[in-house]
Amino acid sequence: MDLNDILATTLLITLEAGALVRDHFGQDHEVQYKGDVNPVTEVDQASEALILGKLRVAFPDHQILAEEEGGAPWNSPGPLWMVDPLDGTNNFASNFPHIAISVALVWDGAPVVGAIYDPLRDEMFSAIRDGGARLNDRLIRVAPVPRLAGALLGTGFPYGRRVIEDNNTRRLDHFLRRCLGIRRAGSAALDIAYVACGRFGGYWEPGIKPWDIAAGILLVQEAGGRVTDFTGDHVPIEGETVVASNGLIHEEMLTVIRDGDRAPRPAQT
Ligand code: IPD
Ligand code: CA
Ligand code: CA
Repeated sequence: MDLNDILATTLLITLEAGALVRDHFGQDHEVQYKGDVNPVTEVDQASEALILGKLRVAFPDHQILAEEEGGAPWNSPGPLWMVDPLDGTNNFASNFPHIAISVALVWDGAPVVGAIYDPLRDEMFSAIRDGGARLNDRLIRVAPVPRLAGALLGTGFPYGRRVIEDNNTRRLDHFLRRCLGIRRAGSAALDIAYVACGRFGGYWEPGIKPWDIAAGILLVQEAGGRVTDFTGDHVPIEGETVVASNGLIHEEMLTVIRDGDRAPRPAQT
């Protein structure tokens, strides 16, 4: 099957899930907790059931890894769908209007089709391998900002943040002293999509999952940016740690992550 046809089907499914999530936004929800601060609602589950049902009909031979149901390992060979049916569940459960649906097709470990849909702004971010990245119908590019000192960044904090040693706050301090500003908006999928369309110069996060970033990795690559793990060694399809940037500030971001407070600082004014 042609990747363009697969993308068209992906967009239809993601839009339909987005409409379902939008219809339930702002209402009371049954919130259950998978961990101290890691929620799931009946809408996460309904959105996932819709997406998985349609993927299984359209692509019966493909494997699936989805946030709530689990499924095949992230490093499965061949075609593997990675699905986050509602990214930003804490936002959703608090009626904070910043959420997304993320669906990606990963083939032998590399994302080839990706869609991230913000149903409240009706913004569809999509990408196809070697076919560019789009926001709705418009081709997008990463921000031209040349230095970290001029870049707006996104980040997030891992779900184990109450107890784990590295909850990203020290790194936050190091970046805050070296960039233009930092946002923690609560949706990793939108954070990375915002790098692709130039709203953020960069984004970093530890403790991430494959379904949070699979579509976003492709979006940033196709929009001219760079995505690695914290070491800079490889594209982090396994999740764990991620740095996504416009490419120009990537080495500076890796230096801050590696050297912490010893990393160079912008001149004081
Ligand atoms: C979470 C959000 C959040 C990020 C977490 C994710 P969820 O996804 O993307 O911004 O900091 O690491 O797990 O649980 O809302 O789908
Ligand atoms: Ca998520
Ligand atoms: Ca989710």
